[in-house]
Amino acid sequence: MASNLPSPLTSFIGRQREIAEVKRLLATTRLLTLTGAGGSGKTRLAYELGAEALQEYPDGVWAVEFAPLSDADLVPQMTASALGVPEHPGWSLTESLVQHLRARSVLLLFDNCEHLIPACAALAEALLRGCATLRILTTSRERLGVTGELSFLVPSLSLPDPASLPPPERLTQYEAVRLFVERAAFNQPGFTSP
Ligand SMILES: Nc1ncnc2c1ncn2[C@@H]1O[C@H](COP(=O)(O)OP(=O)(O)OP(=O)(O)O)[C@@H](O)[C@H]1O
Ligand SMILES: [Mg+2]
Repeated sequence: MASNLPSPLTSFIGRQREIAEVKRLLATTRLLTLTGAGGSGKTRLAYELGAEALQEYPDGVWAVEFAPLSDADLVPQMTASALGVPEHPGWSLTESLVQHLRARSVLLLFDNCEHLIPACAALAEALLRGCATLRILTTSRERLGVTGELSFLVPSLSLPDPASLPPPERLTQYEAVRLFVERAAFNQPGFTSP
């Protein structure tokens, strides 16, 4: 299956409710932005959703990782290189991307757009206008502000209430505890949950 999604190095925890809700929203819109505080798990959720959606997009799920990019002018270039779209003489890269995507069924994942919102919004809008079967899932601390965009606020992983903690053996029902236990065991073999 066509995709540039990296294989995750750690297991994915919880989020059944959020996955169901995001899938429902993605079926009703062509641009969905996962918003939320830094570190709430937007990127991890988006990649999980991308992997689960592979069967639905015959031409693939393609991720563009904007976190390391500081120059907004390079947003189309980064997208073209993620998709393997070459430059065409006389065309802008956005036009080349539209030509490439217009007859394809693709899910694009724009990851970490928050510092490049106007450029990501402009590209997303041009691609969606030019490519009828394209869908875009983005992660960004703030929504892009494009017409037709829906957003979903990603909550933090679930946590117990410190004022009424359950018995230790029941703590792993909480996602944040499971993440902590898994990462601790990864770094310190032999570490086990309560
Ligand atoms: N459901 C999950 N299962 C396993 N690990 C998770 C899960 N959610 C988040 N994490 C881990 O928590 C960390 C932060 O998550 P992530 O990078 O997705 O947050 P983010 O909201 O995209 O942050 P930022 O706003 O900085 O981009 C990462 O190490 C990620 O792998
Ligand atoms: Mg992120």
